[in-house]
Formats: sequence, C-alpha cells, structure tokens
Amino acid sequence: MRSLGRDAIAILPAAPVRIRNGDIEYAYRQDSYFHYLTGFAEPEAVAVLAPGRAQGEYLLFVRDRDHEREDWDGPRAGPEGAVDDYGADDAFPIADIDEILFGLMEGRPKIYYTMGINEEFDPRVLGWVNALRVEARHGTCAPQEIAALSHLIDDLRLFKSRGELAALRRAAEITVGGHRRAMRCTRPGVTEYEIAAELGHEFQRHNAVHAYHPVIGGGANACILHYRNNDQVLRDGGLLLVDAGCEFDCYAADVTRTFPIGGRFTPAQRAVYEVVLRAQAAAIDKARPGNDWNDPHEAAVRTITHGLVEIGLLKGRPARLIKEGAYREFFGHRTGHWLGLDVHDVGDYKVGGEWRLLEPGMVITVEPGIYVRPSPKVPKEFWNIGVRIEDDLWIGAAGPEVLTSALEKDPDAVERLVQSS
Ligand code: GLY
Ligand code: MN
Ligand code: MN
Repeated sequence: MRSLGRDAIAILPAAPVRIRNGDIEYAYRQDSYFHYLTGFAEPEAVAVLAPGRAQGEYLLFVRDRDHEREDWDGPRAGPEGAVDDYGADDAFPIADIDEILFGLMEGRPKIYYTMGINEEFDPRVLGWVNALRVEARHGTCAPQEIAALSHLIDDLRLFKSRGELAALRRAAEITVGGHRRAMRCTRPGVTEYEIAAELGHEFQRHNAVHAYHPVIGGGANACILHYRNNDQVLRDGGLLLVDAGCEFDCYAADVTRTFPIGGRFTPAQRAVYEVVLRAQAAAIDKARPGNDWNDPHEAAVRTITHGLVEIGLLKGRPARLIKEGAYREFFGHRTGHWLGLDVHDVGDYKVGGEWRLLEPGMVITVEPGIYVRPSPKVPKEFWNIGVRIEDDLWIGAAGPEVLTSALEKDPDAVERLVQSS
C-alpha cells in the first residue's frame, strides 16, 4: 500500500476458470499474485487496494452466496466471509463491481493493473478508464497512467516471509518423500508413468499436487531437458532422471535426482554423477548474501569443465574451455532460478544491468547437470548419460540452508535406496 501511494489504486483479478474441453474445467489454481495478497482461493474475485480510503483500503469483490450454486460447486465465502475470514476491510458482490469500482477509481490518476495477463479482464479495466475520461469532461480527474502492478509485487515476492518459508519447507518435505518412493519403486521393467504415479500419490496424500509436469526420463530420455512423454519402459543399465516437485498451499518445490535403474552405477555413470555432485556443492557454497546471482552458476561451470576434462569428455585447458563455453555441449542450461509461488518464480535477475546480489530471505534452486548424447567424439560408455541434481535453498544471513537436504544424493546412498525396492 505504501509503495502504491495515495493517488493510486491497484486492481488485481483472481485467475479465470479455464476450460479443458466441452464444459469440463481444469483444476482451479489461484493466480499467484492474487494468492500472495489475499489468500483467497475462489475464482470470480477482484482485489482492490485503495490507499487512504477512509472506509477501508483493502477491498474484495467476491461471488455472492448462492445456495443452489453451492449445492453444485461447494461453499463460497461471500462478502461476509471475505471480511471475517480473509481480513478485507470491505467486501462486495462481484456483480456490483462496475458500479463500485468505477467510483473508487475516480480522482486517482494512477492505476496499477497488469495488462496482458487476463484477456477477459483487460477490456473491462479499459472500459472503466474510458468512462472516467468521459466523466472528466465534467470536471473530475481522469486516470493519467496505467502501470504494471506485478513489478511492485515481484520485489516483495522475492523475499519470503516466515509463513511463506513454512509452506516452502512443507512442499520440500513432501517432495523428498515422493522422490524416496520413486527411487524405491525403480527397477527394470517399470514404466516412467508408474514412477510419476508414485510421486503423485505421495504428493496427493499430503494434500499437495505436482507443481509442474514431472520429467521422468529413463535411459536416453534423461538427456532431453524438457522430456514430458513419461511413457517408456525403464531398462537395466540406464539412468533415470526424475525432476518433480509438489505444490503445497500454492508454494512449489523443484527437485531432481538421477539414479541407476538397476541399482548400480556403471563406472562412467558414477564418474559423471560425481562431477555433477561436486559442481552442485560448489554452487551451493556460493549461494550466500553478498555474492551475486551468477556466482553459483560460475562455480558450477568451473567444476563441470574441470570434471569433463578429467573424465576425458573435453580436451584442453579448463580456463580456455570456460572462456569458449565448451562446457555448453554437455551443460546447456543455467544453474537455477528463484522459487516460490511459481516454480520459476518472479523477480529480476539483473538490476541496472548487473547481476542481482543475493540477500537473506531469497529462495533459489541449484541444479547443475551433464548430458552426454551419442557422438563419435565421445566413448560409447558415456552415451546417453544424463545427470542433474537439483535442490531448493533458502538464503539465510549466515549462508544457504538446503530445504531438500534430507533427500539422498551421495551415490552410494542413492544406490542403496534403489536397491531397497
Ligand atoms: N522443473 C523445472 C526446472 O527445474 O527448472
Ligand atoms: Mn526441476
Ligand atoms: Mn528448477
């Protein structure tokens, strides 16, 4: 409210209900910004912040109570619940928004609203703005400026509150359980989708869902970064790369583990695995306040390049190979991203053209990988080895805390888990 200023008003609609096909809807997921500001989980709602409004600054427009509809679709909070249970200063039926919001916008030259996200709602905001312009001819103040609300909130969302951290910890904890279960269920002959189902079962029995479509890539599929078919049979001798995380109370975990389908790494697989593990440790160590966003990535690049030279996949001086970007053939993605309500959470990575400094309260992933596709330049025992190790970190004043540290990643411990099926 303070950053908006008194001559502004902020308008934020809830996520629309989306149709899957016919009249069947996708599972409803609240808009992340809306959840962040309100905690209100219903669709057809609009939050309004009107700094300095005497009768209340935080308003919610929500669906009215309706016994017949509630018999079909479940309970609604209604305007009364919006005030009593969600802390709105004032709440109104969504059906009255045209009349009421128009009045609230009057006399406020600046409107914070993010255009281009909600295609149905954009024209309504423009309609109110145009109507106010017409009114202005009779002496009221017309809106002068429409600014994105998202950017203001992004800088808040980057720093997690105690409550947010608790949700992230819970998401991490449930995700760890899911990955353990996936490892225990892995053996030759099982399918990738059965592994996805094990993860999904573990998530759902803790009131969580997949935060993103999981990557369950066996054998050569481990090298496909956004592999999503998850429909192949797992074969002995290959690796299984599982990138899966749950969403709990709208907060995401994002975790990757890679393990041998048959329960034992081959020497080549283990050699690659150990390089990725070392690279992850080096990157995690750089994820501390005062370092910049790119420091963990640079540490991972250094360790991976040295490791690739040691195991013979790259030839030359590491310093030169890093400068030339030779590692990109095997490690073509970045080492992480912000994590929060969104898996790839909001927030700028650069400020004023420079990498952003890491600060206490930020949450990130650290996820280096090596992917070796079949090539005449590479010894055959390395073909189709794809390894990524991904954990979630909270950056504290004294350094990083790995929220997903309970999940095994030492190669011997990983083998034991897979063998314990
Ligand atoms: N699961 C998406 C990612 O690792 O960024
Ligand atoms: Mn991931
Ligand atoms: Mn990730």
